[in-house]
Amino acid sequence: MTDKFYITTPIYYVNDKPHIGHAYTSVATDFVARFMRKKGYDVRFQTGTDEHGLKIQKAAENRGKEPLDLCNENSQIFRDLTKSLNLSNDDFIRTTEQRHIDGASYLWKRLHERNQIYLGEYTGWYSINDETFYNEKDLTKQNDGSFKTITGGPVEWITEKSYFFKLSEWSDKLLDLYKNNSDFISPKSKKNEVVKFVESGLNDLSISRTSFKWGIKTPTDGGHIMYVWLDALTCYANGVGYLNDTVDTLNKYWDNVTHIVGKDILRHHAVYWPAFLMAADLDLPKRIFAHGWWTNEGSKISKSLGNVIDPIEIINEYGLEQFRYFLLREVPFGNDGDFSKKALINRINSDLVNDLGNLCQRSLTMIEKKLESVVPNITNKGNEEKALQESIEIILDKGPKLINEFKIHDYIKLVWEHIGKVNKYFNDSKPWELEKENEEMFLNVLAITAEQIKNIAFFIEPIMPNISREILEIVGVDKVNLKFEDMKRVNIFGNKLSKVNHLFKRVQE
Ligand code: MSP
Repeated sequence: MTDKFYITTPIYYVNDKPHIGHAYTSVATDFVARFMRKKGYDVRFQTGTDEHGLKIQKAAENRGKEPLDLCNENSQIFRDLTKSLNLSNDDFIRTTEQRHIDGASYLWKRLHERNQIYLGEYTGWYSINDETFYNEKDLTKQNDGSFKTITGGPVEWITEKSYFFKLSEWSDKLLDLYKNNSDFISPKSKKNEVVKFVESGLNDLSISRTSFKWGIKTPTDGGHIMYVWLDALTCYANGVGYLNDTVDTLNKYWDNVTHIVGKDILRHHAVYWPAFLMAADLDLPKRIFAHGWWTNEGSKISKSLGNVIDPIEIINEYGLEQFRYFLLREVPFGNDGDFSKKALINRINSDLVNDLGNLCQRSLTMIEKKLESVVPNITNKGNEEKALQESIEIILDKGPKLINEFKIHDYIKLVWEHIGKVNKYFNDSKPWELEKENEEMFLNVLAITAEQIKNIAFFIEPIMPNISREILEIVGVDKVNLKFEDMKRVNIFGNKLSKVNHLFKRVQE
């Protein structure tokens, strides 16, 4: 039986349009999903929208709309974005769907039955922006005496009747979980922050609200709605039908779950979520990875500064493959990064146009012009040719290890080193001279280069699926969904090239 691998993005709030942060989480998750499929895993990839809570209710009020109307409109925009980004997601879940409401209610009932919930009153700080309760010590005081959260939003003081989850009882179990499963949270620096937070002592968590209506009614008390994070987190399990008593065929994906999230929401995923599941006597996800945040030309991205980056605008101006490549290559996954047009253009012109584009263009047009587009056979493997083969073996061996550690940028670097080697091989072999001097060697160099270009197409598929497809089509490979293990079997010798076009356009600075 093929190994299962279930990977998720967070579900996105529908109070506003998507920005680069949403695109980033989604593209990185898509990369991992595609990579794991190429490795031969049976992958399920879920994304979706988070539609309940005060933040959404207020956004609807401000626009003079019913909450559900706003959700329908904006959720569709996020769904459209999955197409614009060419995500390979298998599911798109909305928290207003019945399957989600049923699952969230099921978790509540299990917590209730296990005596993990009690009625009380919450008095303290709340951020609508983050939909999060804060201790004063976790806030920063402003000059005017008000407080701000780590994400920069304001907080308000609230007092209301609320059900509490006995989170404080789960500290030791959580610490054991982190200790016994050393890669449950990564990167390490983020894991250490979570451990410190839990070690400093956990308060019970308010998990219902009574001062507004837009949410899922708690199944045990119709006067309360569920805290939006308890509601939202269950989406991961609901997408594979895990939160009910019947056996769903998708259930098996719950055996191997990876959540990709931004650093701002790590606490909810690495503390609250496993605590809810343990308290309900349910299985936990395997891994949680927290990535960093993008700034825009050095400044924090915020609506008030008017510097929000619209992914669709970038795609329209520079191209989807270029955008995906930049997001994944520019910043080590897990670190913060800065978006600038200069950096984007640099990457496009140097890595894509000069390195990959030129390699394909120069070698394949030679086959087109000199050999009536027919890819010749390899006849000789000397040391240089063998070195290229070894470099392929290194990527096949190291690649999965790097991705297992979520080192996406290191994987890309490795692939680009290989592209550099193939470029060097082609240049040093001087096929334009060999053509007259040694026909056999001439054919051999073109065959080796074409073979390597095919291999490169396999390696870049998780980064730039369309370009990968385009290259494979040029060299006459029409099979789709190829795995890494198919790479050596896919024969291109004797294939007729289809028209060779420039893969990337140089961008004027
Ligand atoms: N709805 C919650 C998640 C619930 S999951 C059960 C939420 N939604 S969000 O729309 O605000 O954010 C979703 C993702 O976008 C988060 O992973 C967040 O880190 C990411 N980003 C938001 N701004 C970002 C940047 N400036 N840079 C990178 N990612 C950032 O949180």
